[in-house]
Amino acid sequence: MSFNSNSHFLDIGSGLGKSVLHLVMATGCQGTGMEVVTHRINQATEFLYRLVKRRKVPDWVAERVQYVKANAAEHVTNPITIDGKHPSHIFMFSRVFSKGDLTAIAKRLDLTDYKVLVCCVDHGQMKTDVFPLKSGVELEQRI
Ligand SMILES: C[S@@+](CC[C@H](N)C(=O)[O-])C[C@H]1O[C@@H](n2cnc3c(N)ncnc32)[C@H](O)[C@@H]1O
Repeated sequence: MSFNSNSHFLDIGSGLGKSVLHLVMATGCQGTGMEVVTHRINQATEFLYRLVKRRKVPDWVAERVQYVKANAAEHVTNPITIDGKHPSHIFMFSRVFSKGDLTAIAKRLDLTDYKVLVCCVDHGQMKTDVFPLKSGVELEQRI
């Protein structure tokens, strides 16, 4: 999984936006955080601008990061676009989603060509698996 300045990373359920921020800073990619809770979008945005103001992160980072308010279970479409652009990589920390939302998102991702990298910790050991997503049910069973 490689990132460069042409990559567009989407974090579905971005919370305070730190995954997006760190990845953009580390790789120079474009990053979008999608979050359903307005307060968290505001906090993530304020945090980013505070860091820029205090010169903890360079200005260009703010230009490459955006946080959008949306319920992913309703918003994720085929093709998945953010402002008309296709994310190259999509990240989800699946445990935080309700079963209904996870199924709805997985079913929509099913309609795409994205490959899914599933990571889980089993008895303290990190396990990973990559597979083309073919059904939301399968995704639920794999994670
Ligand atoms: C653990 S937090 C953020 C983790 C973040 N991805 C990270 O790595 O730093 C998960 C977030 O998912 C959001 N969330 C849950 N269901 C969602 C949905 N259907 N659409 C968008 N965001 C959702 C929650 O509000 C919460 O802020």
